[in-house]
Amino acid sequence: MSLSIRKLTGRVGAVVEGVDLTAPPDPSTVTALRDALNEHKAIVFDDVDLDNAGQERVARWFGELTTAHPNVPAADGTTHVLAVDSETSKADEWHTDVTFVVNPPQLTTLRSIVTTPYGGETLVANAGAAYRDLPEPLRSLADSLRVVHTNQYDYARPDATTQQRQEYDRIFVATPYEAEHPVVRVHPLTGERGLFIGGFAKRIVGLSSSESADLLRIFQSYVTRPENILRWTWSPNQLLIFDNRITQHYGVDNYDDHPRRLNRVTVAGDTPVGADGRRSEQLVGDASHYSGAPAVAA
Ligand SMILES: [Fe+2]
Repeated sequence: MSLSIRKLTGRVGAVVEGVDLTAPPDPSTVTALRDALNEHKAIVFDDVDLDNAGQERVARWFGELTTAHPNVPAADGTTHVLAVDSETSKADEWHTDVTFVVNPPQLTTLRSIVTTPYGGETLVANAGAAYRDLPEPLRSLADSLRVVHTNQYDYARPDATTQQRQEYDRIFVATPYEAEHPVVRVHPLTGERGLFIGGFAKRIVGLSSSESADLLRIFQSYVTRPENILRWTWSPNQLLIFDNRITQHYGVDNYDDHPRRLNRVTVAGDTPVGADGRRSEQLVGDASHYSGAPAVAA
């Protein structure tokens, strides 16, 4: 088998074929996959033969793993798997994973376990393309800003109707975390700049909450432009990997009450660096149990 990469859209996403994910990793394959992630931001493998341990093993090709989540326990019988399950949470908000810690995951892997008869797509947006789409005055402004991300946001959601969802929300916010990140992050491998905001970003440093909301809304409108989005329709036994340093994602809640289950494993990330060279800082909480000492290298 030879490795092939087929683009799914002009700006984001590619399907990878010809890689045996059950075999030991060979360095040239891992380099090719990393290159594909750097270019396409999200890659998909179809018809994978992986269980939870296999997903963890493939995720380790790219670095050390995080635990499942700073506050949410791992799925039963696992140490690193977070169950993304419609029973407990729908993730129907644009976000980058776990940005309320100082070193959010560099990669997220999602493996489809239970898929829906219609809908239930995962959207992945290229936040580097979004940054380049900004008019120059907005790009310069974004370069100069920092923003506080928190897990303490409004979880009185209208869809949190079931007891299981309310319980999940309670656990998600149980220990508060806040991290200050640059609004524009410089990718450690490519030097590419990308908007680093999403649903956990709440207060731009030095601005009021209403000014923050207005500015974030403008920046976010570039992330969510249709041209910058991959809309992935799931079948069972697929593996989606996206670069959590330069993307946002969204689970589309358009599948009525059908069950949907993805298993998530994340790879520990470095501490973001802004256009001015300044690093992120943890303001509230200590998530070292989640992702160890913040890595400097990629
Ligand atoms: Fe997510």
